[in-house]
Amino acid sequence: MNRQSFFKSLCLCATVLAMGLYSLPYAQAAAAPVSVPPAVWWRHAVIYEVYPRSFQDANGDGIGDLRGITARLDYLKALGVDTIWLSPIFPSPQVDFGYDISNYTAIDPQYGTMADFENLVRKARKRGIGIMLDGVFNHTSDQHPWFQDSRSAKTSPKRDWYIWADGRDGGPPNNWRSGFGGSAWQLDLKTGQYYYHAFYVQQPDLNWRNPQVVHAVEDVLRFWLDKGVVGFRLDAVLKYYEDPTLKDAKTLPGVNAFGQPRLDQSQMTNLPEVHDALRDLRKVVDSYPGHRVLIGEDYLDTPEKLRALYGAKNDELQLPMDMQLGFINSLSVPKFERAIADAADKLDGNQPLFVFDNHDKPRSWDRYGDGVHNLAIARIIAAVLLTTRATPLLYEGQELGMPTTPPTRREDVQDPLGRTGWPQNKGRDGERTPMQWNNSANAGFSTARKTWLSVAPGFQTVNVKSELADPDSLLNWYRRLIALRKSNPALYEGDTRVLHNNENVLAYMRSRANARVIVLCNFSALPQAYPLPDGLVYRCTLASTSTCSGSSRVIDLPPFGVWIGEAR
Ligand code: NOJ
Ligand code: CA
Repeated sequence: MNRQSFFKSLCLCATVLAMGLYSLPYAQAAAAPVSVPPAVWWRHAVIYEVYPRSFQDANGDGIGDLRGITARLDYLKALGVDTIWLSPIFPSPQVDFGYDISNYTAIDPQYGTMADFENLVRKARKRGIGIMLDGVFNHTSDQHPWFQDSRSAKTSPKRDWYIWADGRDGGPPNNWRSGFGGSAWQLDLKTGQYYYHAFYVQQPDLNWRNPQVVHAVEDVLRFWLDKGVVGFRLDAVLKYYEDPTLKDAKTLPGVNAFGQPRLDQSQMTNLPEVHDALRDLRKVVDSYPGHRVLIGEDYLDTPEKLRALYGAKNDELQLPMDMQLGFINSLSVPKFERAIADAADKLDGNQPLFVFDNHDKPRSWDRYGDGVHNLAIARIIAAVLLTTRATPLLYEGQELGMPTTPPTRREDVQDPLGRTGWPQNKGRDGERTPMQWNNSANAGFSTARKTWLSVAPGFQTVNVKSELADPDSLLNWYRRLIALRKSNPALYEGDTRVLHNNENVLAYMRSRANARVIVLCNFSALPQAYPLPDGLVYRCTLASTSTCSGSSRVIDLPPFGVWIGEAR
């Protein structure tokens, strides 16, 4: 080996080592060299949402489970995943598929046992993957013993753990509506009072103004942190508090998704007290070694509101979800530019978290796809997700290009939203269909005769096995992008400058010291010629067409093409 190649390999080893340490979610990171601050693992992590019911069924009952997830860890490792966020796995009547929890410190037998969970954490950790849980603390199930006790009598010691109020004029206490339609109040005959539920009737809201509730939630966090989870995704954080005056909300023009009058949400959403709760929860995770992390589910419409969730002293959420990019729902260059620039410039330097897909919204494949160029457009979404500074969050099947497949018959609907909203609103089953592993029966998801949701029809071609074998597949595009991100500091932690040279092309430069990367995405169905900025030398590193050419100064982008290159 000559001197030059020796130093090259040395550098490569150092980079790989550094990235390996970044990807170690906790504890071991303390051994990182000084130049790799252990606190930042979650800045560089690729996070992947697993919807346990639909990921892999190991016991053949048609429902995904923990042992199934453990069996697929090598797939996730090879994809480049560092952290798995598990949607709820706790005992639950499953009215809202786990978002109605009846015991916070156990595992739903449908998904396995505590030993299965501990084994998953252990096996994931061996691969440098951290497990993150879903913290659903705005509400419990109506079957939770806390609520059972609370509803038993007005004098119950847990009465004030939930939000109870007398009715008004023979009806509910006020005009507030549940996010899932209808009044947000349910009359409980036993005591003649109403309880508040921001979501389904079976999901009574906890009363965060009661310190005992806060302590109970903190104990839940500790229970799982002691088991080695690397953090929590906090469900519906903006809903923790309500205006105690219970005044009627103002009616706004127009109707909501359920055809009911729209209401001003300021009395039920994002009250200032939310920050007190987040600071309390943050203190708990900070009391553990290894920089455990809190992610927040928060659909907010301005960077200023999002910024507030990091906390005035950076003492609230480390990663509130930035939904302002992923849910634009159309390929608009100015809107993408704005969301990317806002995340870079308006969050006080805090780490953004981008997400395009989850178990609640139609898949980005359909929200952005035009019905003709969906695959090329999905490559754009992947490229954007993985080439900004934001921590990327993927949802199972996104990397395959799984489409949204809503039920076609009302009797097949599982999500209650789809049953009440049928046929206008078919609910969320369409984005929850089982993961497509191969082209055998049930796409390799399950050996059951019937799975809880049917596998989507296109699984013969859209599946992990076929896509791994096809170098041009979306899955291999994701794998290449993740590998590129992890090997390039300009991508995982560089500055961002949006370039505006062509109204059809989203273009930005990422830079860190002398390393620069340019990302070009053609948002149009016509070829575009993009003149690169003067004064630099360019080399293509990854392009969505088979040829990665481009030492030339003008890049020819095919319809919906992506070009990523280094600039020196
Ligand atoms: C957000 C979750 O992602 C969704 O699935 C659930 O229905 C609501 N929160 C209520 O928990
Ligand atoms: Ca609440």
